[in-house]
Amino acid sequence: MQTYRAVHLIDRPQQEITADVFSIETATIPTPQDGEFLVKVTHLSLDPAMRGWMSSDENSYIPPVKLGEVMRASGLGEVVSSKHPDYPEGTKVLGMTGMQEYLISDGTGLNKIPAEIPAEAVLAVISLPGVTAYHGLYQVLQPKPGQTLVVTAAAGSVGSLVGQMAKNLGLRVVGVVGSEEKAQWITQELGFNAALNYHDQDFAEQLAAATPDGIDLFFENTGGVAQAPIFARMNAHGRIAVCGLIAEYNKDQPDPGPSWMNIIKRRLSIQGFTMPDHFDRFADYGQALGGMLMKGELKYRTHVIHGIENAPDAIKLLFSGDNKGKLIVEF
Ligand SMILES: NC(=O)c1ccc[n+]([C@@H]2O[C@H](COP(=O)([O-])OP(=O)(O)OC[C@H]3O[C@@H](n4cnc5c(N)ncnc54)[C@H](OP(=O)(O)O)[C@@H]3O)[C@@H](O)[C@H]2O)c1
Repeated sequence: MQTYRAVHLIDRPQQEITADVFSIETATIPTPQDGEFLVKVTHLSLDPAMRGWMSSDENSYIPPVKLGEVMRASGLGEVVSSKHPDYPEGTKVLGMTGMQEYLISDGTGLNKIPAEIPAEAVLAVISLPGVTAYHGLYQVLQPKPGQTLVVTAAAGSVGSLVGQMAKNLGLRVVGVVGSEEKAQWITQELGFNAALNYHDQDFAEQLAAATPDGIDLFFENTGGVAQAPIFARMNAHGRIAVCGLIAEYNKDQPDPGPSWMNIIKRRLSIQGFTMPDHFDRFADYGQALGGMLMKGELKYRTHVIHGIENAPDAIKLLFSGDNKGKLIVEF
């Protein structure tokens, strides 16, 4: 009897994720019944949001993973056995597969993916990072040519796409990153106007020099030390898209937020968003992103880890900044 492995959440992290909150368990590969099919998961997407799903917070946009359950994760897989007429063997599917090597599905929550699109392009651009970047930029920030945009976690999966799309629209784009290597990648390879390292003591001075006309649009992915200096340079009628606050995900208490006084004085619009609210737009966004990719307007890079047994540890790379590009586990 053939078996497969699955990563279960058995405890909740106190702050940073530790190995003992997961357990890798083995089970027998199930057989699909009528109306079902068996998916072999080939790639998992590791995302900062997973840290939130591991907490006990019931008051968020999505319920927490229950203790003992397979850890929630999105992934890409292939149908290897089917009793469902719409999902023949060989169909590629994308969705919330969970951190496991196989799953049985009736198609609920899974999207078919054209076989010719490389797995890494799907996970780095066409799926969550791309739709998040697209929605946050076009719908929330509503960019106009000539404006100055600052994006944090600028070399990451979401930030690198935001910056490239904004450049293609004719904006001045400044990216905030945590290393010299990432600064070089976004300026030399992706064409950002400037890159700043938030670890630098004189970050605020560097930001002022890189944004001589102030900041019109702020795509916030991190929170942390960069937030206040960026907020202080927002222009009148500036817009802020609050996409993520990864600097806070491992903390018990949130950092103090920006003063509301500047929101009045500068007449700022600040909007948080989460993509599960916008599933109905994923197909349209995916088409637009696919078009940009085909035209060579978007570059991406991936950081690939091999083997499900290494997935739990790999999530930590997102929090240390050691991932260089979209973090993926390949089975
Ligand atoms: N709202 C939504 O629906 C939605 C959807 C997807 C993602 N997100 C959010 O978008 C953000 C980026 O996600 P991603 O998938 O693109 O991840 P990512 O940028 O590929 O990886 C995370 C990066 O965050 C940076 N980082 C980690 N800890 C930090 C800290 N304390 N201070 C400053 N930067 C820190 C690191 O880059 P450096 O080396 O540059 O520090 C790290 O590489 C996350 O906050 C995520 O939760 C939101």
